[in-house]
Amino acid sequence: MELINIDPGKEPGYEMKESLRTFRTNIAFCGTDVRVIMFTSCMPDEGKSTVVFNLAKALTDSGKKVLIVDSDMRKSVMIHRYHAYRPENQEIYGLSHYLSGQNTASDILYQTNIDGIFMVFAGPSVSNPTEMLERVEFQKFVEIGKDYFDYILIDCAPLGAAIDAAIVARVCDGAILVVEQGGVGARMIIEQKKQLEASGVRILGAVLNKVKMSGSGYYGHYYKKYYGKYYSNEADEKGRRRKKKNKE
Ligand SMILES: Nc1ncnc2c1ncn2[C@@H]1O[C@H](COP(=O)(O)OP(=O)(O)O)[C@@H](O)[C@H]1O
Ligand SMILES: [Mg+2]
Repeated sequence: MELINIDPGKEPGYEMKESLRTFRTNIAFCGTDVRVIMFTSCMPDEGKSTVVFNLAKALTDSGKKVLIVDSDMRKSVMIHRYHAYRPENQEIYGLSHYLSGQNTASDILYQTNIDGIFMVFAGPSVSNPTEMLERVEFQKFVEIGKDYFDYILIDCAPLGAAIDAAIVARVCDGAILVVEQGGVGARMIIEQKKQLEASGVRILGAVLNKVKMSGSGYYGHYYKKYYGKYYSNEADEKGRRRKKKNKE
C-alpha cells in the first residue's frame, strides 16, 4: 500500500475536541457490529467531510485503524482540501477508477502520514455515480475493508442532491446525519431522514455542527463560533425510558 502525504490543516479547538471524544464514545456504544458508518447531510457544506476527518482522528487516538472513503464522485474536494500528494505528482487513484474497472482495490487504497488513517479518494468526476455505487464491486470493497480496518467512515453526497447516499446506505451498518445549525429547516431534515430510513439503514444519530455559542455563563463574553454536538438515537431512547420510569 502506498503512503500518501496529507495536510488536514488546523487542529480543532478545545470544545470541538471534547465533543469528538464524546462522539467517539457514543459510536463505541453503538456496538461492535457498527463499523461501516456513512455520513450525509441535507445540503452541501454542512460539514460532513470535516466531521468525518475529525472523528477518524479521534478514533485513531484511541488506537483504531480507520479508513475514510470519499464516495462523492460528483464533487470530490478531498485531494485538494488535504493537499494530498503522490511523489513526482503522479495521479492519485480513486473510487471511480476502481468502480469503472481501470484500477484494482489495492491501487486506490492509500496509507497516510497520519497514523491509523487510510484514505480512498473519490477519483475523477463521473457522469453516472449512482450506477457506479450500485455495482457489486463497491460492496465487495467494503466487505474486504472490514477485515483490515476497525472502522470505515464513508463520506457521502448530500441527500438533497441525489440518491447516492441511499445507495451507499445499503453497505453500511449505520448512518449519521450532519446538520449545520441554522442551515436548513426542521421540515427538510425530517423529510431527508425519512428518505434515509427508507433505505433500511440504521440511523445512529445526528451531529449538530457549526453551533454558534454566545452569551453568558462560564465563557463570559467569548463568542464561540463553532462547536459540534452529537445526538444519538440511543441516548434519546434512554432519556425517554428514564423519563417514563420517573413518571411511574
Ligand atoms: N465545526 C466546524 N468548525 C469550523 N468550520 C467548519 C466546521 N465544520 C465545517 N466547517 C467548514 O465549513 C466548510 C464546509 O465543510 P465541509 O466539511 O467541506 O462540508 P461538506 O463535506 O458537508 O460539504 C469548510 O470550509 C469547513 O472548513
Ligand atoms: Mg464534503
